[in-house]
Amino acid sequence: MPFFTQATSFQNLWPELSRHVHELMDHGKYSHGHKVAELEKTMARYTGAQHALAVNNGTDALVLLLRAAGLEPGDEVVVPAYTFVASATSVALARGRPAFADIDPETYAIDPESAAAAITPRTKAIMPVHLFCQLADMTAIAKVAASHDLQVLEDSAEGIGMRWDGVHAGLLGDGGVLSFFPTKTLGALGDAGMILTNDKTIGERAGILRHHGRMGRTVDHFAGISNLSGISGTNSKMDDIQACILLAKLTRLEEEIGRRAELAAAYTERLAGRPGIVRLPTVAPRDGVTNPVFYVYLIEVERRDELVAHLTDRGIGTEVYYPRPLHLQPCFADLGYGPGDFPNAEAAAERAVALPLYPDLTDEDVEVVCRAIDDFYSGNRS
Ligand SMILES: Cc1ncc(COP(=O)(O)O)c(C=O)c1O
Repeated sequence: MPFFTQATSFQNLWPELSRHVHELMDHGKYSHGHKVAELEKTMARYTGAQHALAVNNGTDALVLLLRAAGLEPGDEVVVPAYTFVASATSVALARGRPAFADIDPETYAIDPESAAAAITPRTKAIMPVHLFCQLADMTAIAKVAASHDLQVLEDSAEGIGMRWDGVHAGLLGDGGVLSFFPTKTLGALGDAGMILTNDKTIGERAGILRHHGRMGRTVDHFAGISNLSGISGTNSKMDDIQACILLAKLTRLEEEIGRRAELAAAYTERLAGRPGIVRLPTVAPRDGVTNPVFYVYLIEVERRDELVAHLTDRGIGTEVYYPRPLHLQPCFADLGYGPGDFPNAEAAAERAVALPLYPDLTDEDVEVVCRAIDDFYSGNRS
């Protein structure tokens, strides 16, 4: 059983998908063309964003968002120490400096008190990250940010479908992003991402930055560049073939989110109270209506690495999210952090493992995984 596959879902989507691909081939603009524009319109409707800008991956989306939000060289952004590395490398790539904070051990999101403690006179923004199945505590983060006059830029790469009182992830602060990496709740057939914002200045600047610093949508590689804005941009455009995949998959998104919730509930029911299990996902109450979306089913266990080896022997794929907290990553060694600085992040990195969770998974698959976990902790390793 692989950690992730969507082979069956793709087969089922073929009629819808092939319609989009045929339209794309007939149209003739294969990058940043009309399928990308259709996706942006559809996603703006789905999320409620005034600016939904398609780009080539979630990491570039973060870098461009930070640049568009006005990050200057040397500005600091407070980032949780336990997250995907791109949350912090994006800050460095935008010529800023990540300042780390610890996480809430229940939700894995940035701890607002620790975030407040990381603020210095150079701090420009806080970057909450919505990990695995739920939103960070955006009320508390907004309070900390407001009291220091900071921007809130969300790494909502994993957050599609998550809402707080009806407001979609990425739109709870000044701007956010989505990743459409294949394993994501809405995944492409390769890399893709999006910037979301309701801020006109950020939206317009991000639109210019993703496209060589050009203004407008023109993609005419042979005509020379006549519409440069004066800002150095990148080539971060989305391929239309990925937009076709995403448009087709969007028709099943809510159904697939529902199936993910069923599978997560089945895991929780089956694993609760079992030997070796330290923590199962819990969804924190917030002061508003929020909805979990199970992108990842993450558990904490005793002897994590031995369990992973046992599951691998049984042919069951797992993924360790995230094996090393960011303050201990070699690429951030010059920031001067050390072991013990963020105990909750370090504990999670030691004990956490994600189990297979995707719409193609069956109820029987869940039982197979859970039985293999039971066997490991009861000493039946055959
Ligand atoms: C929290 C988080 N941030 C950033 C990213 C980067 O997205 P991408 O892989 O599309 O570059 C991801 C996904 O991989 C992620 O999960």
